[in-house]
Amino acid sequence: MKIQVRSFVFFAALLLSFGAAAQPKFEPQVGQAGKDVIWVPTPDEVVERMLLMAQTGPNDIHFDLGAGDGKIAIAAAKKFGARATGIEYNPEMVKHANANAKAAGVDGVGPGKATIRHGDIFVTDFSSATVITLYLLPALNMKLRPTILAMRPARAWCRIPSPWRTGKPTRPPRWTAGAPISGWCRRT
Ligand SMILES: C[S@@+](CC[C@H](N)C(=O)[O-])C[C@H]1O[C@@H](n2cnc3c(N)ncnc32)[C@H](O)[C@@H]1O
Repeated sequence: MKIQVRSFVFFAALLLSFGAAAQPKFEPQVGQAGKDVIWVPTPDEVVERMLLMAQTGPNDIHFDLGAGDGKIAIAAAKKFGARATGIEYNPEMVKHANANAKAAGVDGVGPGKATIRHGDIFVTDFSSATVITLYLLPALNMKLRPTILAMRPARAWCRIPSPWRTGKPTRPPRWTAGAPISGWCRRT
C-alpha cells in the first residue's frame, strides 16, 4: 500500500512538472492586441525625449498610461529618479513589465522605483501624477483629456503622436526622433 501511495505521489509530481514545462513562456509580440490599442513600444530615443521634455526628476510621481513592457516607467525611475507607475490592462504584460523592472534593478515603490499595475487607464486613479506619459491613439488621448486637464496644476504630460487641439504648450511643442513623430509636452 505504502509503495502504491509513493508511486502515486511520484507520478503526480512528474505530471505536474511536465505540466509546468509545457506552459509556454509569454513572449510579447509587437502589434499584439490590447484592450483599446495594440502594443507597440516607444523607441528608446523618444522615451528619453519625452521624459526630458517633462523635466522629470526625483520629486516626480510619474504615470505611464498603457505601460506595455514597462519601458517608459522603468526609464523614468532609472534615468530620472522618479517614483514611477505604469498602468497596463494585459495581465501577462504586467508580469513581464515587472520582471523587466526587476531586471533593471528598479522594481518596487518609491523614488527611483517602478511598478506596473494591472488596470484600465479609463478607470484607474492617476490623479497623484506630476508627470504623465501617453503613447496611445489620438482618439484615446482625447478621451483622457478631460480627466488630465481637470487635474490640479503643476503637472506635466507628454504624448505621442499628435497634439490635442487646444491648450498652449509651454515646452517646445514639436520634435522628431528618427521617424517623423510629433510630440507635445506641457509643464505648467
Ligand atoms: C502603444 S502601447 C504603448 C506601450 C508603452 N507605453 C510604450 O510606450 O512603450 C499601448 C499599451 O496600452 C495597453 N492598453 C490598451 N488599452 C488599455 C487600457 N484601457 N488600459 C490599460 N492599458 C491599455 C496595451 O496593452 C499596450 O500595452
